[in-house]
Amino acid sequence: MPPAPSPKTHYPNLVVFDHPLIQHKLTLMRDKTTGFMAFRSLMRQIAALMVFEVTRTFHAERIQVDTPLEQTTGSRINAQITVVPVLRAGLGMADAILEVMPEARVGHLGLARDEKTLKPISYLSKLPKHLNAGPVILVDPMLATGGSAVAALTMLREAGADDLRMIALVASPEGVTTLGEHHPDVKIYAAALDRGLDERGYIRPGLGDAGDRLYGTT
Ligand code: PRP
Ligand code: URA
Repeated sequence: MPPAPSPKTHYPNLVVFDHPLIQHKLTLMRDKTTGFMAFRSLMRQIAALMVFEVTRTFHAERIQVDTPLEQTTGSRINAQITVVPVLRAGLGMADAILEVMPEARVGHLGLARDEKTLKPISYLSKLPKHLNAGPVILVDPMLATGGSAVAALTMLREAGADDLRMIALVASPEGVTTLGEHHPDVKIYAAALDRGLDERGYIRPGLGDAGDRLYGTT
């Protein structure tokens, strides 16, 4: 198979983090001998590193602040941020994001991919009200066929969200394309764009089943 195309050329909706620290940690996650304890910790570490860039476009207003010595100008994010992990694997990244954004609200979407049809089945939706009160970050480490992410973003839009972005670990070209077709305004942030999907819908080279590896259910 040919190498994955350059994300910058082919995918205007995708940002890939070609940062050595993130790539180092992702490589450890890909390693099949990495157990769930280390896998979970690495996922948290990568999410914490990525959140800095994912939130760069958040609007901040200028405000005045009195330091102990004088008044100066600072900034404040006024909007209500919402973080929405897709269960189960999204939880592995969401905790780290919330550590640096404790003021965010959290919504939960439960989606499980049917192993035969590869279509997502929704089993839970628990979202805060007024999702249009600020930016919403969808969190799911794996963007494979894109079916789950398309469904999740559609659910978020139907619930009122209008400022959306997605954070993932590993994306496939198929998933990025499908997401771009259904939700062209949603920027995807990923640690890697892999080669493609196999016949079972797994990302190759990928890192296997993220939920199972995260929670030791393999
Ligand atoms: C994984 C992953 C995504 C989905 C991606 O979840 O976390 O939600 O598959 O696949 P897609 O892009 O083809 O829809 P899974 O359904 O395995 O559930 P789990 O996290 O509970 O294991
Ligand atoms: N879900 C996963 O966890 N891994 C894949 O490679 C594809 C879907």
